[in-house]
Amino acid sequence: MIEIREATEVDDALVEAMVRLVPQLSNSNPAPDRGELCALVDSDASILLVAEEHGAVLGMMTLVVFRIPTGVRAWIEDVVVDEEARGRGVGEALNRAAIQRASEVGATTIDLTSRPSREAANRLYSRLGFEERDTNVYRLKP
Ligand SMILES: CC(C)(COP(=O)(O)OP(=O)(O)OC[C@H]1O[C@@H](n2cnc3c(N)ncnc32)[C@H](O)[C@@H]1OP(=O)(O)O)[C@@H](O)C(=O)NCCC(=O)NCCS
Repeated sequence: MIEIREATEVDDALVEAMVRLVPQLSNSNPAPDRGELCALVDSDASILLVAEEHGAVLGMMTLVVFRIPTGVRAWIEDVVVDEEARGRGVGEALNRAAIQRASEVGATTIDLTSRPSREAANRLYSRLGFEERDTNVYRLKP
């Protein structure tokens, strides 16, 4: 059975899972080292959710929750499921857990971005009820 849980401690299995999963998400960013992973797990804003089956990590995502003058908001980032485990609803289960968590803490919106070339991801988000916003997405790399 696939279980979704928040990672609250860093162990070798979690470090190894990052090394396996992050390259399946991004060519340009290395996996976090143990110290960076500890900072992520300890962060008040970031909630690292992992999908596990028989103790093996199949996928992960990060839900970021923050307060701004217009309310409590959430972002979903770095969603990835191991290639070998795709198409079994792991991505959906992770996102549903994040949506539930965000609504429990009072988030009024949950945002994410996904490149159009990520076809499976875009289908998944639409299926879950995410709607495209008419807004410009900007990025600055300081
Ligand atoms: C997007 C991603 C997280 C989805 O994970 P998943 O566990 O396969 O998700 P689900 O099984 O819940 O559904 C994903 C959809 O892709 C299909 N799919 C994706 N890979 C598949 C595979 N290898 N075999 C069969 N179906 C697959 C599923 O059938 C499903 O299609 P549907 O929406 O038409 O029903 C995963 O494909 C992934 O990690 N992609 C690479 C990283 C990425 O793009 N992340 C998103 C960043 S925005």
